[in-house]
Amino acid sequence: MKIFLVYGGKSAEHDVSILSAFSILQAIYYNYYSVQLVYITQDGNWLKGRIYNEAPLNEDDLRLTIANAQPILPSDLKEGNAVIFPVLHGPNGEDGTIQGLFEVLNMPYVGAGVLASACAMDKIIGKQLFQQVGIPQLPYVAVTKNGYKDHQGEILAECEGSLIYPMFVKPANMGSSVGISKAESRDELIQAIDEAFRFDRRVIVEQGIEARELEIAVLGNDEIRTTLAGEIVKDVAFYTYESKYLDNKVELQIPADISGELQETLQYYARKAYQTLDGSGLSRCDFFLTANNEVFLNEVNTMPGFTPFSMYPLLWQNMGLNYGDLLEELIQLAKLRFEKKQQIEVEQL
Ligand SMILES: Nc1ncnc2c1ncn2[C@@H]1O[C@H](COP(=O)(O)OP(=O)(O)O)[C@@H](O)[C@H]1O
Ligand SMILES: [Mg+2]
Repeated sequence: MKIFLVYGGKSAEHDVSILSAFSILQAIYYNYYSVQLVYITQDGNWLKGRIYNEAPLNEDDLRLTIANAQPILPSDLKEGNAVIFPVLHGPNGEDGTIQGLFEVLNMPYVGAGVLASACAMDKIIGKQLFQQVGIPQLPYVAVTKNGYKDHQGEILAECEGSLIYPMFVKPANMGSSVGISKAESRDELIQAIDEAFRFDRRVIVEQGIEARELEIAVLGNDEIRTTLAGEIVKDVAFYTYESKYLDNKVELQIPADISGELQETLQYYARKAYQTLDGSGLSRCDFFLTANNEVFLNEVNTMPGFTPFSMYPLLWQNMGLNYGDLLEELIQLAKLRFEKKQQIEVEQL
């Protein structure tokens, strides 16, 4: 069977995506699959590269150019007996848009579907859904650009009335900490909101807290499994793009040093969040834990970082599922979901 490995992309996480794709190429079971590269350049062009039957040696082999790869349209991906494995993060990759393309092409693909991807990516919609099912979250105020233009004073007063400084201001639809800032005063709040509006028409102003950051990995379609939580041990004020991917300033503690009871609470909410979104394939659920053991869901990532040093695969490693077997499970889950959907279509005829 053929796997189309789709990676790169227009988002800030382009390089992380290449790293994840390279790691996948090292570990995938070539006795079952051949892997064809599909690279989305930083400007959004699609290039179809070579087919691998064994692991490439060099990460730079993945930075395709028109000299060594064929420009294609996204719809040219259509092929029978193939599974698409997208390892794209952020807008256009993790937000349901590309998943919609795969649905239209009627091909199986790894990871969450359109709905779960879109809802998890949007910090406002995500919060509203999780609120409905009683998952604890930090208080927030949602702000739209238009509303803010006409009612800035009221909106700032609403933030200061329901939240206390520091506040975290985030674009609704980004990822990897892009456009996020911490505000300690009204002046900083105004600046932070302006900054977030550079990236999106909708932003969220959220209560800032001092908390530990814990993450749970979820795997499955209708039947789901969760890992024990891992912790991101920080020596930086907040988990920025640089600290996440470039400076190595964070350390992962797996499993997190917390009580069994807290582990269960986190697993319970991770499962509930996943089911609320109608998750499938995989997700990483990120939580805050305060000094007095209060738990808040921060966000769900439907395509978490996927290098062998990333939290998601390491959480599974800790449960006894190695990287290669994890890839295999994800591919099988993609096929299963596709087959079930086909079956429903056939039954309707
Ligand atoms: N309300 C908050 N209080 C304290 N720290 C926060 C808060 N919100 C975000 N952070 C910090 O900022 C990081 C990025 O925020 P997050 O909401 O996870 O956005 P992204 O989608 O970019 O990952 C978090 O991992 C955490 O370190
Ligand atoms: Mg995050």
